[in-house]
Amino acid sequence: MELREQIANAGDPHDLWARTINPQFVRVLRTIGFDRTWVRAEGAHLYDDNGDRYLDMLGGFGMYNVGRNNPRIRAALIEALELDTPGMLAMGVTGLPGLLADALLARAGGRLERCLFTSSGTEAVEAALKLGRAATKRPRVLATDHGFHGLTLGALSANGNPEFTARFQPLLPGFDHIPFGDLDALERELRSEDVALFIVEPVQGKGVNLPPAGYLEGAQALCRTYGTLFCIDEVQTGFGRTGKLFAYEHWGLEPDLVPVAKSLSGGYVPVGALLMSRRVHEAVFDSMSNALSHGSTFAPNELAMAAGLATLRELDDEGLVDRAAVLGRRLLEQTLPLVDELDVVRDVRGLGLMWAIEFEGDGRMYRMLERAQRGLFAQLVVVPLFSQHRILTQVAGHDMAVVKVLPPLTISEEDLDTFVVALRTTISRARRMPSSLTKFALTAAGIGR
Ligand SMILES: Cc1ncc(COP(=O)(O)O)c(C=O)c1O
Repeated sequence: MELREQIANAGDPHDLWARTINPQFVRVLRTIGFDRTWVRAEGAHLYDDNGDRYLDMLGGFGMYNVGRNNPRIRAALIEALELDTPGMLAMGVTGLPGLLADALLARAGGRLERCLFTSSGTEAVEAALKLGRAATKRPRVLATDHGFHGLTLGALSANGNPEFTARFQPLLPGFDHIPFGDLDALERELRSEDVALFIVEPVQGKGVNLPPAGYLEGAQALCRTYGTLFCIDEVQTGFGRTGKLFAYEHWGLEPDLVPVAKSLSGGYVPVGALLMSRRVHEAVFDSMSNALSHGSTFAPNELAMAAGLATLRELDDEGLVDRAAVLGRRLLEQTLPLVDELDVVRDVRGLGLMWAIEFEGDGRMYRMLERAQRGLFAQLVVVPLFSQHRILTQVAGHDMAVVKVLPPLTISEEDLDTFVVALRTTISRARRMPSSLTKFALTAAGIGR
């Protein structure tokens, strides 16, 4: 049977997911009314089975920088399939991975001279942790509070969010966390000269926390002083998201290790990579018997490589990196006034098209919601944005009243303006908090019915 028929005959995908994949996730979607049947996507838009169009301000958690179903990436994939390339040889090499590695390293610059492909962001982080420790012969890893680097065991050990880590103890030994932005704390830990690497997101994804002025430059200098590798996790910030191809360019940094993933394949094929200095690579892959010290069966896969090459070309040809910078400034300019305009808006912040709005209130209703569950007000914004304005956004993390967006960098000015108008209306309404919404919020928190 054709795929199209199989999908049509399968009925509501939520039922099948609930039965076979994850019933609790389906419950969440149904509770907040996100259980649409999606049939198509294009650029920054999603379409449901009623033919209704939704604006995607979430971009698949930031993997659709070049837009959903980008025709140039699709064409490259079709071409790669039609070429009947040799695929993964296991004992042998082919052309595409070298081409993509070369293109990535040429753009990354600085110390980054070697590329190890993976199939996801968390695996790229795993590689950084593992190779970083082996290269320095040091046991410890430093990471930041609220940092997010993936959910496999090594990356999870670097995770600074207890809601992800608490139930999965014990994690790997030798991992410590320090506050994001605190150079004194970093130096205190580095002084013992047993820290292999310091891993940090240039802009923290959970909450969209921007680094204080001088922090990342200072962190790099301290790492150099104490012989620690400086690892900038660009899985979410990479490929133009913040208005530079890699966010570290904003501060002129020269990291030793850079995990990337998400948007590298245009959102089509699982992919990741660890870009690293030659010194790190040569310390680990130091002999023929160690030539295969790290890797995985499916990486590098040829479809991901073809999509990756097409994605880099697309970012260049369409000027998407500069576009993210320009549109990001526009979004900030239009939304910063909300801080003065609406009492519940505490902060608006962002870099390029990585943007967030944070809420705070002292009204009776707001306090009641906060008591029920921290950050619940943000759901009162995300849900009507979706149900009334057909705009997909997300709460930026657990226990935080922050709404975050990561739209495709191809988004139009008009769509961005539509978002701002809808946002202003939605927040104004939410702070007046009609009782139906309050009831919904309490139900979503598992408190009301
Ligand atoms: C900064 C950062 N690092 C690593 C990861 C993990 O990537 P993946 O979900 O591809 O495993 C993410 C995912 O959101 C991320 O934002």
